[in-house]
Amino acid sequence: MTALPGIAVLVSGSGSNLQAIIDASEAGAIPAKIGVVLSNNAEAYGLVRARNHGIPAEVVDHRSFENREAFDARMVEIIRSYGAELVCLAGFMRVVTPVFLRAFPQRIINIHPALLPSFPGTHGPRQALRYGVRFSGCTVHFLDEGVDTGPVIVQAVVPVYEDDTEETLAARILKEEHRIYPMAIRLFLEGKLSISGRRVITRETGRIPDFSRRNPDA
Ligand code: GRF
Repeated sequence: MTALPGIAVLVSGSGSNLQAIIDASEAGAIPAKIGVVLSNNAEAYGLVRARNHGIPAEVVDHRSFENREAFDARMVEIIRSYGAELVCLAGFMRVVTPVFLRAFPQRIINIHPALLPSFPGTHGPRQALRYGVRFSGCTVHFLDEGVDTGPVIVQAVVPVYEDDTEETLAARILKEEHRIYPMAIRLFLEGKLSISGRRVITRETGRIPDFSRRNPDA
């Protein structure tokens, strides 16, 4: 039996997306095992989730490095030591440098809680509420040198309601994140994604019948 490819997951906080990836891996829904979980934050609950499932979990405190590049170089070294084929950022709150990007070209993906290119950066649900959009959602994308600007792999849409708070909207979005992140990982590992300029070509065409939604649905 050949060993499953390994993925590295980077977290800074709760790690609910990490949990979705762990669950998908254990259920055989993605053809990979998580080789290592890394966090810049020793308090991240994601580390506990990893250890609960017997996954190696390491802390690399960014504050103990002279600059971002030195921190990234250490992260690269650890990820390479686990032989990871794909690097997944899941609530990882550090901007990475070219040192990190160049180490894993077209092999780093991220999840963002908005429909990019709307509302990049922090507080996606808050930005969507303040702007007053009727729909928001989440995006899995390849990482590039910008902040939340890389080629889009999968998106999911959720309605925004007038009585939403940041918390209720974030929870609705998060539920979709947990569906599309494992899906994007599966597509990547099955070799079904290729990048053409800004566009990701997916060799799997799931079309949505009669897709048209209004909000409010009057
Ligand atoms: C998610 O909303 C993700 O999109 C964003 O940070 C949050 C992380 O949540 N980048 P969790 O740590 O996976 O629960």
